[in-house]
Amino acid sequence: MNLILMGLPGAGKGTQADKINNKYNIPHISTGDMFRLAIKEGTELGKRAKEFMDQGELVPDEVTVGIVKERLSKDDCKNGFLLDGFPRTIAQAEALQQLLSELGLSLDHVIHVDVPEEKLVERLTGRRICPTCGTAYHVLFNPPKVEGICDKDGSHLVQRDDDTAETVKKRLSVNIEQTQPLLDFYESEGYLVKVNGDQEIDKVFQDIQGFLEK
Ligand code: AP5
Ligand code: ZN
Repeated sequence: MNLILMGLPGAGKGTQADKINNKYNIPHISTGDMFRLAIKEGTELGKRAKEFMDQGELVPDEVTVGIVKERLSKDDCKNGFLLDGFPRTIAQAEALQQLLSELGLSLDHVIHVDVPEEKLVERLTGRRICPTCGTAYHVLFNPPKVEGICDKDGSHLVQRDDDTAETVKKRLSVNIEQTQPLLDFYESEGYLVKVNGDQEIDKVFQDIQGFLEK
């Protein structure tokens, strides 16, 4: 299964990607996670990405396409992949098509996790993540068993640097502008499937699963 998960910041792409990955065991490729790892490791890529991420801006296409190219070329992507947060611009979508054709791969579906914009600020500002395993929780909608502590490894949860109210606003406006042309593009190519992301987390996953197993 070769999939793309699309949706505005906070729509639940990462949350659903974890579930898809657990169930179908296909590599989860999140450009946001790759940039955060590079920042943590202090690499040149991380330094470059951080300047844009902290402002809520997109990282330049050539940088983002470069890391996806490297990742998709690995052997474990031959039997399926799940792209999360990429592509985010038409230029990235075109680069992806070119790359997939070079690798002899093709897309199966683009899943759009659709959530009304007005719900997203609350989702993002209430998100807490585990610095060890990356799991995302929410203080109200998806709390850990013990407040502030990861269920899986006991680490203390933290807030993402770009989940402050001001940066969230900027991320949303940047992404709203970029998303519609991409949705139109994948719709016209016949790949797009819309899932209602404004439901309980497990119900969203059930709908995705229902579609994938149809
Ligand atoms: P990235 O990490 O991709 O962030 P994003 O797109 O802003 O998406 P998020 O990770 O914030 O949200 P999500 O949809 O994964 O939601 P989640 O499941 O966590 O990108 C970060 C930055 O990197 C970008 O701003 C950009 O600078 C750069 N970047 C990345 N990719 C790029 C690209 N292709 N090109 C250029 N730059 C790029 O859920 C959110 C919260 O809601 C959580 O608390 C969760 O518990 C909760 N939640 C989830 N589902 C539900 C539900 N159904 N009901 C209630 N709560 C829910
Ligand atoms: Zn953890």
